[in-house]
Amino acid sequence: MKVCRRETFNAAHRLYNPTFDDAKNELIFGKCNNPNFHGHNYVLETWIEGEIDQETGYLIDLKILSDLINEEVLEAFDHRNLNLDRPEFKDLIPTVENIAVVIWNKLRAKLDSKYGLEVRLWETDRNSVFYDGK
Ligand code: NI
Repeated sequence: MKVCRRETFNAAHRLYNPTFDDAKNELIFGKCNNPNFHGHNYVLETWIEGEIDQETGYLIDLKILSDLINEEVLEAFDHRNLNLDRPEFKDLIPTVENIAVVIWNKLRAKLDSKYGLEVRLWETDRNSVFYDGK
């Protein structure tokens, strides 16, 4: 069984590879290469896999999961410029793919190993990525 907590945060980014020249950055990243940044309203689904605890009836206490996501993800990323404010993206392009991997690693490090972890991160209503560690 899996349970899910849905959270939202907004953040700014710029997709840019410093090893590409301006023309190639523009070609590859298009509007997301805008030098003055732009924002997205991200939707993060955190899925936890496990078994129902017979004493509590919970798979995981969702308040504990909520606190974990708040501390590890929302405090770090909400209302931030990912390129400028966050060391995770100093040398990592903040695509939705890379943001999902960073989030997964942060949560995995703090989550009890008895639980499975998957994240789905929506960057727009139409675009999302899914990451489960591979
Ligand atoms: Ni973008």
